[in-house]
Amino acid sequence: MGKCPECGEWNSLVESVTDSTRISNGKFSISNFKIEQDLVKLSEVKSQSYKRIPTGYDEFDRVLGGGIVPGSIVLVAGDPGIGKSTLLLQTAIEVAKGTKVSEVSNVSKVSNVSKASKGVIAEGHKTSETSDTSETFGPSVLYVTGEESAHQVKLRADRITRDYENLYILPISVTEAIIEAVEKIKPTFLIVDSIQTLTTDRLDGPAGSVGQVRESAQILQRLAKSTHTPIFIVGHVTKEGNVAGPKTLEHLVDAVLSLEGDGMHTFRLLRSSKNRFGSTFEVGVFEMGDDGMREVPNPSQIFLAQRLSLRPGSVVCSTIAGGRPLIVEIQALTTTTAFGIPARKVIGLDFGRAQVVIAALTRAVNLALGNMDVYVNVAGGLKIDEPAADLAVALAIASATMNKPVPDKLCAFGEVGLLGELRPVGNAKNRMAEAKRLGFTDFVTPERFKTLEEAVRYAIK
Ligand code: TYD
Ligand code: MG
Repeated sequence: MGKCPECGEWNSLVESVTDSTRISNGKFSISNFKIEQDLVKLSEVKSQSYKRIPTGYDEFDRVLGGGIVPGSIVLVAGDPGIGKSTLLLQTAIEVAKGTKVSEVSNVSKVSNVSKASKGVIAEGHKTSETSDTSETFGPSVLYVTGEESAHQVKLRADRITRDYENLYILPISVTEAIIEAVEKIKPTFLIVDSIQTLTTDRLDGPAGSVGQVRESAQILQRLAKSTHTPIFIVGHVTKEGNVAGPKTLEHLVDAVLSLEGDGMHTFRLLRSSKNRFGSTFEVGVFEMGDDGMREVPNPSQIFLAQRLSLRPGSVVCSTIAGGRPLIVEIQALTTTTAFGIPARKVIGLDFGRAQVVIAALTRAVNLALGNMDVYVNVAGGLKIDEPAADLAVALAIASATMNKPVPDKLCAFGEVGLLGELRPVGNAKNRMAEAKRLGFTDFVTPERFKTLEEAVRYAIK
């Protein structure tokens, strides 16, 4: 049915599975539920410390809150082509190397550790390869892909490394097949790329439909909890910026990570917007290279690498991305409007905030921006969504318009109010510490200047 007879909405009906065994003679058979085991006093619940599996990448581990939690289910979302498959394949390869097999083996109940010839455990137990043949599969990682063939995955893997011993590929898009594969090889880590390609036999709808995505995600969730296998699910993002499929997907998983960046630049930010096992303030920075994603342990330095100092329109800002301060360059360019309405182009910043800053500059500092085209950009393709960038944006625009540079060692951060007043922002200490580390000593902050006018007069002479 295309139209709901109840509310009149189009395309709002979603296919779903009803379990007929649950309802007998039209009523629930309540007697079937056994709650004795589940009903416990919270005080008597043993606290459990998770043994986390390292991903092999510090940047990734930090975003996860210290590594992969066994039995957890993590959604990795992002635009098509941003590098989700690449990053997860690399992670799969690293985990499959089994550097920390000892920690993992007791969780996934893999009995034959001798197969992990490269694993830590193999050194301790010098059992010969032939002593135990009952298990054919050692510690392994399973990469399920519904988007590419095994061949294509191999091509990609070869760009990264040639060393992927215990990595299994399953190029299939039937959810039930994943369960079978997991039972067979008992992987320590499972990756599903992507949830939009999965279909379950229980539904008729096409892959990617709300029903299929929801049902497949639920099956995977049960799989994660019952086998203690950590599962990473790739999810594509729609044009509106939501993870395609139902919102319930985000409720179902333990963590939602998003890989961000724009296609024009090589930087990728991995952020968590939900994390049951860690904070959501962490950000991991990667760079896409010819041989896969590389970690960027010192992002500030890289974001400033191309900076030309003492150029009008360039101001350095200390921003907080996730939990850590990041030093970035805000650039502005202003030119006289040739005809019609002045253009306002803002890249990497909130457009509304930039407009407020332009208005505040016009009024408080008497800058004639009414007949000027204004372009503002965050160098390096970074996106900043905090008001702390306001002051740097204002200084950059003022500097560009007056065609005078700000001092070389200047770093600015702070919120600009409508009346041209400056408002303090959080984390000032961390912001300053990171800027000092990179040699910036002259801070233009709301603590030092009360109004935008004073700040502009100080910074641009
Ligand atoms: P991919 O991981 O396939 O993106 P997603 O899974 O998020 O859709 O990334 C594809 C892009 O990355 C593609 O444009 C090629 C590029 N790429 C590199 O630049 N270097 C590499 O080593 C690899 C494997 C891909
Ligand atoms: Mg992909």
